[in-house]
Amino acid sequence: MKSNQEQIIKMFDAISSSYDLTNRVLSLGIDVSWRKEACRKALELQKGNDLVIADIACGTGDMILHWQDFTKDKKVKFIGIDPSSGMLEIAKDKLKDLLLLEKLQLFLAQAQELKILKNQSVDILSIAYGIRNVVDIDQALVEFARVLKKDGVLVILEFTKNESEGILDRLAQFYTKRILPIIGGLVSRNYKAYKYLPDSIQDFLSTDVLVEKLCKNGFRMHIIKSYSANISTLIIAIKE
Ligand SMILES: C[S@@+](CC[C@H](N)C(=O)[O-])C[C@H]1O[C@@H](n2cnc3c(N)ncnc32)[C@H](O)[C@@H]1O
Repeated sequence: MKSNQEQIIKMFDAISSSYDLTNRVLSLGIDVSWRKEACRKALELQKGNDLVIADIACGTGDMILHWQDFTKDKKVKFIGIDPSSGMLEIAKDKLKDLLLLEKLQLFLAQAQELKILKNQSVDILSIAYGIRNVVDIDQALVEFARVLKKDGVLVILEFTKNESEGILDRLAQFYTKRILPIIGGLVSRNYKAYKYLPDSIQDFLSTDVLVEKLCKNGFRMHIIKSYSANISTLIIAIKE
């Protein structure tokens, strides 16, 4: 019997080839503006010209492409980490220019085991729609705090649990729970994977609990912002 964590990674392997298309259809491209804002706000805190940016749970590499767009005037070393070989294969193709220029390294690893990153070696660490899939979140936060430099910036984008009862919140919950698995299932031909999405949001932490855990691990909050009837949340925190 595979562990829950192994099953989650296997599921991402199974949907890797249709992931980008399904993602764009389901979010209608809105996630692009959330990702861009995350990069812009984080870079306001890191004005240096020489940066190490690590994207954890990098998947097919979208966040790294955004980081690249926003740092054209800087000397940046990019690191992408994900435990799904299927997702990383797609990333390798999308990011081949950065790989050829030796500006990017991709590694197969999990957020809670970042052995390939040295202590205090990273200026910006991002994890976009990834932390929800990490079974041992506490250990992942210990690792994020370990690898970030002092005053390093942590960027989390995530679908956090929303228990508000407002009309827009309920509409958003209806979309996520009822519509999204059907559309996601049709595009990816994997209903189970897209049923996992609302289930994993339901099982995930609320923003308040996640923030509390971050503070306990030595992070100071800079931005906590929700988008689209609280569907998505951006947290930018600074390592003290
Ligand atoms: C929803 S995708 C997000 C991918 C990408 N960050 C994006 O924004 O499109 C979630 C990713 O988390 C990865 N993942 C699953 N378990 C993980 C873990 N324990 N540590 C790090 N990444 C994990 C999956 O392989 C998958 O690529």
